[in-house]
Amino acid sequence: DTPYLVDSFGRVARDLRVSITEKCSLRCTYCMPEEGLPPIPAGDLLSAAELVRVVTLAVRELGVHEVRFTGGEPLMRRDLEQIVAGCRAALPDLPIAITSNGVGLEHRAAALAAAGLTRINISLDTVDRAGFARLTRRDRLDSVLDGIRAAHRAGLAPVKVNAVLMRETLSGTVDLLDWCVSEGCELRFIEEMPLDADHEWARANMVTAAELLEVLGTRFRLTATERDDPSAPAERWLVDGGPAAVGIIASVTRSFCADCDRTRLTADGMIRSCLFSDQEYDLRGALRAGATDAELAELWRGAMWNKWAGHGIDAAGFVPPERTMGAIGG
Ligand code: GTP
Ligand code: 5AD
Ligand code: SF4
Repeated sequence: DTPYLVDSFGRVARDLRVSITEKCSLRCTYCMPEEGLPPIPAGDLLSAAELVRVVTLAVRELGVHEVRFTGGEPLMRRDLEQIVAGCRAALPDLPIAITSNGVGLEHRAAALAAAGLTRINISLDTVDRAGFARLTRRDRLDSVLDGIRAAHRAGLAPVKVNAVLMRETLSGTVDLLDWCVSEGCELRFIEEMPLDADHEWARANMVTAAELLEVLGTRFRLTATERDDPSAPAERWLVDGGPAAVGIIASVTRSFCADCDRTRLTADGMIRSCLFSDQEYDLRGALRAGATDAELAELWRGAMWNKWAGHGIDAAGFVPPERTMGAIGG
């Protein structure tokens, strides 16, 4: 028995991503249907105390090095500060991050930093107000921009901004990069993956990393940098000689599954070894049936051992998972 989350291909999962809600304040077309996701019954969500217990056991028994809370939108949980504080009290050295859309963050960034949050990544696809409202189906751009500034003020640096590459926001990517450079955020573009609710994703229509580089090249001088951590999904370019940089997460055209170091928990407490996996393992059930930490760790190891080689999005015969990104947790 190894103390780590190892799979049959020899990869070790040290990065835990936990979705804590399916709810969201936005409705990005590549992630959620207009009406939102079907609600998870409140009793099926892991409570703050349960979350603290599973994160603690993942670190102590399974060699996890970093936790990231996602959603849906993690700020939709009023007890996010409590979850962070609980993990921080149990694990003083653990890097604790969230991935958020930034809506309402201006009111909570300071409390989250005080609770022990280490880092925050914010999703922002365009700084054009009308474009933002179309893509997210909500007119909340100002709140997101205020949220990013509040995160900086609270000392949650570096703030990274994630932008999913979409045809309708492609021409605005130069302005987005300008804005991020001037605000001191690191911008990373992400190739759109087939996780949209309407199953409209098509390989032939998606914007690729190569196409983005052409657009950015019209305004900026980009210099490729060495990748220091092979499991980090982003490839990075210096902008106009640096120090500002821009990253691209080419999940589709240059997949990084061979170096993947992630393990995931859904908001209803299921272990998933991959974003695209269709197999889930019922950690919540075991937890509530009174399993010990050692038994939960064993279940988790079994779930990860079965992780597949990779998603194969760019290969023939790919079938997207039933759950959308919002349900699995970015
Ligand atoms: P950092 O540690 O700050 O670099 O964060 P991160 O890149 O691990 O996390 P973030 O939540 O910001 O993720 C960025 C994007 O990478 C996500 O929005 C996804 O689109 C993509 N991504 C995250 N995890 C996976 C994964 O396991 N597989 C694939 N293919 N893409 C992923
Ligand atoms: N493809 C790629 N990234 C996505 N995200 C949401 N849906 C998709 C998708 N279909 C991103 C969000 C956010 C993170 C949680 O996941 O923009 O940065
Ligand atoms: Fe919400 Fe983020 Fe999905 Fe947009 S991408 S709907 S902000 S979870």
